[in-house]
Amino acid sequence: MLPMGRRRFEMKPFALRLLLWAVVVVAGAFTLYLTISYAAIPLLIWLSPTLNPTLYDLGFYGGSPSQTYISNGLSSPRTSITKYDPDCDKGYTFLNYNGGSMPDPGPAILDSNSELVWKGQNYAVTTNLKVQTYMGQQYLTFWSGRKGGTMGKGVYYMLDSSYETKHTVSAAAQGSEIEGDLHEFEITKDNTALLTFYNVTPADLSSLGKFKNGWLTDSGFQEVDIATGELLFEWKASDHFQVNETFMTHPFGGYIKSIPFDFFHINSVDKDSKGNYLISSRHTHSVTCIGPDGQIMWILGGQRNQFTDLSGGDALNFRWQHDARWLNEEEGIITLFDNKEGGPLHVDGPYSRALMLQLDIANRTVTLLHSYVSQYRTRTPSQGSAQYLPDSKHMFVGFGHSPVLSEFSLDGTLLCEVHYGAQWLHVFDTAVSYRAFRSANWVGKPREPPAAKILDEMLYVSWNGATEVEAWVLQGGGTGEHEEEWSDLDFIDKEFYEESFDLSQLSQYSRFRVGALDREGEILGYSDVAPRESSGSWWGFLFAVVLWGVAFKISWMGYKWFSQHKGVARRGVSWVVWKKS
Ligand SMILES: *[C@@H]1O[C@H](CO)[C@@H](O)[C@H](O)[C@H]1NC(C)=O
Ligand SMILES: *[C@@H]1O[C@H](CO)[C@@H](O)[C@H](O)[C@H]1NC(C)=O
Repeated sequence: MLPMGRRRFEMKPFALRLLLWAVVVVAGAFTLYLTISYAAIPLLIWLSPTLNPTLYDLGFYGGSPSQTYISNGLSSPRTSITKYDPDCDKGYTFLNYNGGSMPDPGPAILDSNSELVWKGQNYAVTTNLKVQTYMGQQYLTFWSGRKGGTMGKGVYYMLDSSYETKHTVSAAAQGSEIEGDLHEFEITKDNTALLTFYNVTPADLSSLGKFKNGWLTDSGFQEVDIATGELLFEWKASDHFQVNETFMTHPFGGYIKSIPFDFFHINSVDKDSKGNYLISSRHTHSVTCIGPDGQIMWILGGQRNQFTDLSGGDALNFRWQHDARWLNEEEGIITLFDNKEGGPLHVDGPYSRALMLQLDIANRTVTLLHSYVSQYRTRTPSQGSAQYLPDSKHMFVGFGHSPVLSEFSLDGTLLCEVHYGAQWLHVFDTAVSYRAFRSANWVGKPREPPAAKILDEMLYVSWNGATEVEAWVLQGGGTGEHEEEWSDLDFIDKEFYEESFDLSQLSQYSRFRVGALDREGEILGYSDVAPRESSGSWWGFLFAVVLWGVAFKISWMGYKWFSQHKGVARRGVSWVVWKKS
């Protein structure tokens, strides 16, 4: 007589058994997930708060943990501050959130506590958000368009202090297919714009062992007049560089038009007081100075390097670099971001760093003055920026493809570091900002009123982009013939992007609005009358608990069954094998 369990087991068709096991495994995984995220991790952090940044960087909270604001529905990353120093610059940080884990990509401004100040909505992919001066006015500028591989086709926006588009700048096309690329948009002192472009063109690639009739991604830059759009200057790499000066390799690149070979990869343009252009080209590992006539004046780094390294090789060994800029022309000082990596097949050093180099152009020598390495020695395969902050003499460095922002003293000591995503997951393209920019010079006065919403007994308020709000005043409205009368009920100082008022003791009022106060206590604007919403959050919580219970019960039944029938299961498997053979 067989035991019942065994008989039942053997009666079940194989597919059904597989299905049952799949249900048990899924329920088990789900139970584990809920238990870890909602019980184990909170407990761990309660026991040891210092673990928090590590769990954050490992992605325990997701690729880019975010918070959603009730007042306006926008989201922004919850940052992790891994290093802090009170001497750090108090300006705003300008980023472009991109990457697979970003719930709400777009241009963003953060304050010195990494609190959101402004989030741009309804732009396509954006890069290079910063503050620039044009005709004596400050503008928020960025690129927006379509990204294809590592280049883009789009236009450059210039927003005024109310976040309205005042100008858009395009590349001068001249009958070609040239469009503005995502890597650079720099407004010069002459009120012109420097911008990069990429275009695909037939080329002889036989010096690379490829076809004579191959396809090249050429790249270059233009200087255009912002007011008229007139092209003032154009330079392209293929006129001045050989394709075999590249360090990029791509086994399939260059044979067909849809997979062209990107030999140069321009990624920054800066203009000096003499009218020369300083450009960085990632795939030739070089920084090149170009005269107003388009001719090359000198090349730093790469195959045609003209400089002697007075720092034993440490000044010239930058690889796959970005963002080369003049810091001090008279003293010959430039800054750049040395990635050291151009993707998994092109790794040329242990970590990325920002560099401050001193050039003696007459003698063609270069000296490494300082280098800037992140707290955990981040090596980022693409993007990145290095900015000198003249007031504090600090360096502000964005690690591009890795969600790390670091501030250093001039000599390279790390002072502050903020992560806006899980840095150890960056290979998955989780949270990215092409560059990061720091400036205190921004005043935002949005045209839209503050956003206010009531959820249960709380009123939530925010004002996207407003930089001058110091405090909020809650007002309650009268009814009937007193509808136009508002009385002050409560005040709070503004500390966070979104603030909230408790309405539970104010049941005598049925209508509320919020006023924004500036430093002098003057009203900057009022929200509309706040609409009410109910959250049902208790139901959500209850639902999660029930779900956890069900999943736990299923996994527990599966486990019990398995431990009671270990022998049977083994015999059952051998029975299946025996029957087949
Ligand atoms: C690069 O190619 C050119 C021909 O286009 C050739 O003259 C030159 O020797 C090559 N340089 C190297 C380093 O192979
Ligand atoms: C660099 O060149 C200047 C002249 O331009 C010369 O006076 C100086 O000695 C040179 N310095 C070095 C280190 O060679």
